[in-house]
Amino acid sequence: MLNVSSELNLLEILDFLDEKGVIIHAKNKGSLPSYKNYSSLSEGKIQQSIIDDIPPIKGNEAIGYPTQKPEALLERIVLCASNEGDVILDPFLGGGTTVAVADKHKRQWIGIDQSVQAVKVSEMRLQKQKDLFSAPFSLHLHKYDYDTLRYSDAFEFETWIVKQYGGTPNTKQRGDSGTDGKTKEGVPIQVKRSDNVGRNVVDNFKSACERFDKNLFDRLKAEQKPVGVLIAFSFGKGAIQEVARLKNQEGLIIQLVTVEEFVPIAKKPKLTLVFNDLGLDAKNLREIEFIATGESEAGIEFYAWDFSYEAEAGFKADEMIDKEGKQTHKFNAGNHCIAVKVVDNEGLESLETLSLTVNGVVKVG
Ligand SMILES: C[S@@+](CC[C@H](N)C(=O)[O-])C[C@H]1O[C@@H](n2cnc3c(N)ncnc32)[C@H](O)[C@@H]1O
Repeated sequence: MLNVSSELNLLEILDFLDEKGVIIHAKNKGSLPSYKNYSSLSEGKIQQSIIDDIPPIKGNEAIGYPTQKPEALLERIVLCASNEGDVILDPFLGGGTTVAVADKHKRQWIGIDQSVQAVKVSEMRLQKQKDLFSAPFSLHLHKYDYDTLRYSDAFEFETWIVKQYGGTPNTKQRGDSGTDGKTKEGVPIQVKRSDNVGRNVVDNFKSACERFDKNLFDRLKAEQKPVGVLIAFSFGKGAIQEVARLKNQEGLIIQLVTVEEFVPIAKKPKLTLVFNDLGLDAKNLREIEFIATGESEAGIEFYAWDFSYEAEAGFKADEMIDKEGKQTHKFNAGNHCIAVKVVDNEGLESLETLSLTVNGVVKVG
């Protein structure tokens, strides 16, 4: 630290500081000199790379992820290393502390983890967080759930499927008899978000291909290449027979492709929920045991519980990582809605709810 004698006047102080080499004289003519603050000459402690003044997580902050870090720790890192609106990447997401903190401080974020549990727990943590900066965020898993794809918005689905197939989707929504995009080679693609697609769809698509580009259609026909690609969840017997007839009688190839051939699809886990009334405790609260049973070919990863579920607000987990699917909870008299989620090893989930009336006895509904 520099000790400046109190006997010196202002000019003498400046000369003293100049001698000590802490006054920077700018090269530009007319610029004012400035003071350079060296850490060796400053008061206080240099920030070190070991952070030892933040206590481990405790109480409500703990979500049950084994290696979860305190928000205060990630907050210090996020705030000193980024500005509002920046993108924070945590490729070791774990329980989602970095992304939760980044979101609270108006940063965009990307989280990656090899563990399905980490990704799904982080999703639930963010769904519980108020005033989410990044809402709606999206989650990417290795498998896609059939129900979500099958009942998603038609145009969004068609666009997404064409891209997954490696093609270019139409930018505008067209009529049902049109095409939804084209392959890299320019061959028209039509997507049907349905099962058991029938003969008439194939015939309509053939006409749409001809209308799409007559020269291309004739050339592909002459070269015995597919004149169009029809994508659906499954095709009925009529469609398959019609494709064979077109090939044999008209020399036309329509390629039928099921979504499953290029998009990894899995079925959601099955889930059942039962309860046992354990009676009143010493404080006159009704104690109820809940048992959830999930079934999935992939195996069950964990269960999560919301003991005051409201469909409109969405699932807000009170208990996030329950490996057993068994919980005991105490209730006041009144109506209660309990929701349980099961997550399987592919990250697919199912939700089950139970409405209970607690009033002397416990009734469903
Ligand atoms: C220490 S934890 C992160 C904890 C997190 N900061 C929190 O507060 O919850 C490290 C995470 O990295 C993940 N991980 C380890 N190796 C990985 C890899 N090669 N690719 C992706 N994630 C990985 C683990 O699954 C684990 O969830």
